[in-house]
Amino acid sequence: MTVIDRYAVFGNPIKHSKSPRIHKLFAEQTGQTLVYEAQEVPTEQFSSAVKTFFADDGKGLNCTIPLKELAWAFADHKTERAQLAKAVNTLALQADGSILGDNTDGVGLITDLTNNHGINLADRNVLILGAGGATRGIIKPLREQSVKSIVVANRTIDKAINLATEFVKFGHIIGCGFEVLNKQHFDLIINATSTSLTGQLPPLPTNILAENGVCYDLAYSNEPTTFVRWGQENNALKSLDGLGMLVEQAAEAFFIWRGVRPLTEPVIKQLNDERLR
Ligand code: ATR
Repeated sequence: MTVIDRYAVFGNPIKHSKSPRIHKLFAEQTGQTLVYEAQEVPTEQFSSAVKTFFADDGKGLNCTIPLKELAWAFADHKTERAQLAKAVNTLALQADGSILGDNTDGVGLITDLTNNHGINLADRNVLILGAGGATRGIIKPLREQSVKSIVVANRTIDKAINLATEFVKFGHIIGCGFEVLNKQHFDLIINATSTSLTGQLPPLPTNILAENGVCYDLAYSNEPTTFVRWGQENNALKSLDGLGMLVEQAAEAFFIWRGVRPLTEPVIKQLNDERLR
């Protein structure tokens, strides 16, 4: 009997995840035979759920909020980018039975910004809102695009300052609170807080987006998120949510698991069409 390779996304909540749809489209497009399911996993059951999954023909997992740090701790070994992020969104069973942890979020964001939206990041002043795992995963990939400066603003100021201290070895970066943001204009503002999930917004001054500046929310939703709306109201050239990043990070995970790189453009188009319905 042929056993079909199993993949899944673990999260909590997970009902509205688009990952099963994305991986189904990737599998159809590339002619790969696999199943990919979504499973709601409470944090306290994470470790046992992962062990059961891999013992039961599971080949790879995606982990999303709030499980990425637990996945990082669970992995037997990690890629450099996962190590830096201290967060893992992709677990992959290796030939020797060990579990590799990777983080494909950063590359997903950069691919969406540069390839899909034609945004040149070189020499840009970037503001990142939030100082959690999502921010940790995108600083080095942004640096590798030769951005001019990165400011990390966070509600808990100490977290932003500590993060800046840790990442300054990759280039100019400042950590601060939201209240000091009114002195500079930013070409790109990235929302890496969890505020969009609750319909909130960090307290942002209205004059901080440069002319032709771009807003990008790492979260995605069928309706424009509060931050996407803030970008529109503040005359952003583009105000984007994270649907493209979601598809790109999924493509990277698919490549890690299957060794095949799916085309992302038709899948992004399909998902955008579906959410407009
Ligand atoms: P993730 O791994 O997705 O980054 P996280 O580590 O829990 O999740 O980080 C969530 C981020 O959203 C944090 O930067 C948090 O700010 P604090 O460090 O001050 O907690 C930020 N955040 C959450 N709710 C917020 C709110 N209402 N206003 C501003 N920032 C908020």
